[in-house]
Amino acid sequence: MLVFDLVTVKLGLRPAEPLPRRQDARNAFELMRERRSCRAFQARDLRPEDRAELMDAVRAQSQPERRLGQRPIRFEYVSAPLTVWPVVGAHEFLVAIAPLEYDRFAVIDVGRCLQKVVLQATRMGLASCWIGPGADHLSIERHLGARFDPARDHIVCVCALGYASRFIPLSVRVMSFAMRRRLPLEALVFADPRFEAPLDLAAPPFDRFGRCFEACRWAPSSYNGQTTRAVAVAQGAAETDAIRLDFYATTHSRYYAPVALGIWCANWETGCAALGIPGHFAVLSPEARDAQAAPELPRYDLSWLEDGD
Ligand SMILES: Cc1cc2nc3c(=O)[nH]c(=O)nc-3n(C[C@H](O)[C@H](O)[C@H](O)COP(=O)(O)O)c2cc1C
Repeated sequence: MLVFDLVTVKLGLRPAEPLPRRQDARNAFELMRERRSCRAFQARDLRPEDRAELMDAVRAQSQPERRLGQRPIRFEYVSAPLTVWPVVGAHEFLVAIAPLEYDRFAVIDVGRCLQKVVLQATRMGLASCWIGPGADHLSIERHLGARFDPARDHIVCVCALGYASRFIPLSVRVMSFAMRRRLPLEALVFADPRFEAPLDLAAPPFDRFGRCFEACRWAPSSYNGQTTRAVAVAQGAAETDAIRLDFYATTHSRYYAPVALGIWCANWETGCAALGIPGHFAVLSPEARDAQAAPELPRYDLSWLEDGD
């Protein structure tokens, strides 16, 4: 296997691989469930039409009205063999940039907006991998050149995009497999702000949200840390009443936990949109959430509120 990996990956001696098929027939839930981190890419560049469609999605997700926070974020396209670990063959990237001055909502926006680009890429049949700790920031800054201002910009993470290769080194295959498991929903979604009672997903009014909770469960996170939790609250006593979902992070991490939380938000609202359930995000006070005596961690960030009639 080592010799095979050396020949196919290091020396690049391998047959040309087919282009993947588009996944337009898949629904939003299938796309969110089937997306996975790709750690071996084909050597070919994105076709111009794929790159153009991808950049359309980037432009759409970079609009100010798409953000939850006040601070600008952006995604720069880089075509270069950046130093990234342990991904092989990646040579096209989106670099997520937030203001140098720390702003938690800008970081959440990176997760939320970039995940929507990733979902569009998945629909196009492209492979993707979020890369945070495995990215060499100096090499990224060098390739960004004048597009990066060290006095104002902070690189949050990058996302490799391209066509998946079947030639995956054994070590990468083992690592990817080991990092795919997810906690059960009972450990992720709760019915109370003290995180004691798992939510009964089959009980009304939460049963209306079907696979939305599952979509959040399969959201990616750095080192598969799964640092996001949610508390679901019925807004009234009737079974048809609107619900609210409060999003929390389980660690003090300033970057990867809020990115993961933003990704949860993206999957949640993508699922709700697919079911035709409208809602919006807001930040609520502890009193409004009935969480005055809540522990320091998990830490509350924001809520999704279902819009009433
Ligand atoms: C913010 C963020 C940073 C990540 N950084 C890396 C990384 O540096 N290297 C890597 O191989 N995977 C990275 N990942 C991918 C995770 O390891 C992966 O999402 C997780 O193991 C779950 O697997 P899945 O994406 O295949 O569902 C990152 C994911 C996120 C969301």
